[in-house]
Amino acid sequence: ERSAVTEQLLSRIRDIPDHPEPGILFKDITPLLNDASALRAGVEALADPYRELGVDHVVGLEARGFILGAPVALELGAGFVPARKAGKLPAATIEQSYDLEYGTAAVEIHSDAIAPGSRVLIVDDVLATGGTGRAAVDLVHRAGGTVVGFSVLMELGALRGREKMPDVEPHVLLSV
Ligand code: PRP
Repeated sequence: ERSAVTEQLLSRIRDIPDHPEPGILFKDITPLLNDASALRAGVEALADPYRELGVDHVVGLEARGFILGAPVALELGAGFVPARKAGKLPAATIEQSYDLEYGTAAVEIHSDAIAPGSRVLIVDDVLATGGTGRAAVDLVHRAGGTVVGFSVLMELGALRGREKMPDVEPHVLLSV
């Protein structure tokens, strides 16, 4: 049985056929972001399991993980660290590449963003194939941080992304 918050969030995600390419049914979260009550409920629900865990940094994944991750950081009294697509960050970075269906992609964080021993929550909007989340977990580890969790608005379960991160149990608000 779905909770009231789950129903509220689901009602504010719309399906866009054939975006970004034919055959893809895109889950558009902009109606959720544009609904004050749903936005607050979603951010609070992403933060809830981690309130007592002493989170030092929230890493948000470009681009929608920035929108959700920064308010989650505020909720938790943590700093915010952007994990960006390669080539976007201005200072020295560490980079992690990962496989796409065709080719590879890479995400980066600033080398000095995560102090060794600090406790890190990763936030994103979608867990799909898990490549992005896996790369983020590996980046945090390489920076010397401890991953305390991976909090995500929705999981596309059929793509089995959580199998790429057996070391981190994802906290998922919606399974679609
Ligand atoms: C989407 C989504 C996640 C990622 C999930 O981002 O926001 O970050 O893909 O997919 P995965 O589990 O298969 O790695 P996208 O790459 O579209 O970037 P954008 O948010 O900058 O558009």
